[in-house]
Formats: sequence, structure tokens, C-alpha cells
Amino acid sequence: MTTLIINIKELLQVENVPKKMVCGKEMKIIPSIKNAFLLIENTIIKDFGKMEDLPKINTEKIIDAKGKTVLPTWCDSHSHIVYAGNREQEFIDRINGLSYEEIANNGGGILNSVLKLQQTSEEELYQQSAKRVEEIMKLGTGAVEIKSGYGLTKEAELKMLRVIKRLNENYPITIKSTFLAAHALPSEFKNNKSGYLDKVIHEILPFVAKEKLADYIDVFCETGYFSVDDADRLLKAGAEYGLIPKIHVNQFTAIGGVQVGVKYKALSVDHLELMRDEDLEILKNTGTMPVALPSCSYFLSIPYTPARKIIDAGLPLALATDYNPGSTPSGNMNFVISTACIKMKMTPEEAINAATINGAYAMGLEKTHGSICKGKKANFIITKEIPSYGFIPYSFGNSHIDKVFMEGKEI
Ligand code: NIG
Ligand code: FE
Repeated sequence: MTTLIINIKELLQVENVPKKMVCGKEMKIIPSIKNAFLLIENTIIKDFGKMEDLPKINTEKIIDAKGKTVLPTWCDSHSHIVYAGNREQEFIDRINGLSYEEIANNGGGILNSVLKLQQTSEEELYQQSAKRVEEIMKLGTGAVEIKSGYGLTKEAELKMLRVIKRLNENYPITIKSTFLAAHALPSEFKNNKSGYLDKVIHEILPFVAKEKLADYIDVFCETGYFSVDDADRLLKAGAEYGLIPKIHVNQFTAIGGVQVGVKYKALSVDHLELMRDEDLEILKNTGTMPVALPSCSYFLSIPYTPARKIIDAGLPLALATDYNPGSTPSGNMNFVISTACIKMKMTPEEAINAATINGAYAMGLEKTHGSICKGKKANFIITKEIPSYGFIPYSFGNSHIDKVFMEGKEI
């Protein structure tokens, strides 16, 4: 099956030689072709170029994209989409003055979602999560990472990971899976953190690895959750099973989480709302992608990741949603891009790079996703008629998407 898109006003994020990521000043550039065509063969991008260079070809389907922009689908490298129920009561408690930490200390927060998830059947969890996956696909997300971490028992963590696996099998969106049993301390281990880590490392992790249920390992390295030493123990054990880290660091306090991530060659270090100079320095010349989650800052009213400091230091940056029931009940990458421009002073080009190729890198998907490149997956967005791509972040809160294609098919 071949599909030809013609008369594209502007085709964004094109490349002939696939790159791994974009860093620093390069992030200000989005390579594009005006008045372009895009040719799809089955699930793959076959060709693209200027309309004047369009070869004579027979295609089964032609789409006229006059006045419209085409760009790769978003790559959301950090989410917790598999969860049970919601936490809108905590949202109201926060409006009435309680902090996220105070809610967690009163037995709410992550442990609230853990209880709900443990009481939810695997089938029901799948159904609730599938709805969210369908929702983000319509919003233009073509690849997403999903974490466990609301189970905290062997049984419940495996239930989450099996649901992630099934979602990946059943939907055209590409899904990467991360094992996050060190997300919070379950109440039965309240005064025995090392006992819980022993259980994660010796009982759950070997099973997860054997069954190939996770691509990555994660830990919430934060004051009151897991220390740098705890993270070190866990990441060391993960490495023994070949699990690369993608970790939660520097959300509320900067305690050395970035350093432990770099030590274990983390693919990404995520959150980074607080960044010390030494945290920036250690990331230079590594393969570790810094990831910012602006919707989380928006929802919790906490500082935004200092994107300017990170990019101006020559580092790369990726943007993701953090879609979860507690700190970010939204999986809208379009909103993430707008918020990054409005609140973090990223340019539209930087935000689009961060949400496509750099997001793909942060999931190990840069060879197949994140750009318009021959041989990559035919995952792309056709916008409505918009004056320029800067309009996408500028006109925030509105949908500019006309069609979304994944693996060559309109969804
Ligand atoms: O990334 N920071 C830790 N975990 C999630 C929030 C989890 C929750 O509140 O349920 C996050 O923000
Ligand atoms: Fe998170």
C-alpha cells in the first residue's frame, strides 16, 4: 500500500542521514522543505522532497495537504499511563492549601494509586489504560515510554508490566516499558527500606528480566523516597540484568541523582526542576539525555526545569508529559510544547526538536522515530491549515491536528 501526501505547505524535521539527537545551538534549527511531498510505502517513509521534484509514480492513495504542515509524531519518553482510578480529591486538597509532599505524608500520593491498582483486575487496568493510549494517539503521540511503579508488590508490578506489553502488541503506537518498583516505599515496609530494596532486587527484578517485561529501570531518587545510595544499589543490580536506567531526579531536591544516573550510563535523567552547576557539568559529553516535564511543573506549581541553562550549556533536552494520576493527569504533548515555549523560554524549534528526535533518543528509538527520514516509521501529523509551525505552541490549548498517521495508516 502506497500513500502520497502532496502540496504540503511545510514538511518539518526532515533528514537524509539519521542523527542520534540534537544538542545546544543545533536545537534552534528545524530542517524543513516548503511545498513538499511525502511518500509512504506500507509502514515506512519511502521518499520525500520538493513538489517540483515529485517523480511520476502510481499510488493507491493521494492526500492533498494544501496549506497544512506535516511533522513527525511526538515522542513522549516519560509516562505512567498504566494506572487505576484517579486522584482528583488530592487536586482539591492542594487547591485548599496542602502540598504534594503533605498529601503523600498523609498516606495519599503514590500510595493512594498503589492501593487502587492492587485492587483492580488486570483486565480492568488494561481497559482504563487503553483509553489513555487511544487519547494520546489522537493527540499526535507516536511513541511513548510507560513505567510500572504503582504496584510495589511482585504480583502488582508484573500486572502493570504485562498490561504495558499488551498495549504495545495491540496498538500501532510504539511503547517502551520501564520497571519502577522503587517509586515509593510500600506501607508494609514503612520502617524497612533496605528490606524492600532487597525484595525488589532479589525477587522482582530477576523475574522482570527473565520474562523480558522491561526495557529500562527507574528509581524515584528524592528526599523522603530513595536516596542516592539506594539508587546506586538498584541501578547496579539493574545493570547486572542489562537494564539501562531512566531515572527520576532533582524534582524537589538536588541530592546527587544526576551523578548516580551518569555513573550507570542512564539513557535519560528526568524532571530536573532543580539544577545545580555541578549537575549541568556532569551531563556534558555523556549519552544521557536530560528530560523536562513542564506539565508536571504547571500542575504542581513547582519550578520549571531551567531549559535555557541546559541548552545554553550545549546540552540536549527532551520534553515529555509524565502523564500520571498525581502530578500530571494529562498526556497532551501539544500542551507540553506550548508550556515549554511560554514558561521555559524555549523557541518553537527547540521545543519541536525536544519532543521529536530527542524524545526518540530518550527511548532508544532514534533509528526509527523522531524525524521524517527514508526508512523510518511512517508516523506523522498533518496539521490543520496554520500560518506557520510557530502557531502550534503559540495558539496554546487548541488542537491544530487534522490527521495522525502511525505505521503508514491514518488512526
Ligand atoms: O513523575 N515523581 C514521581 N512520580 C510521579 C508522580 C507520581 C504520583 O504522584 O502518582 C512523577 O511526577
Ligand atoms: Fe514520572
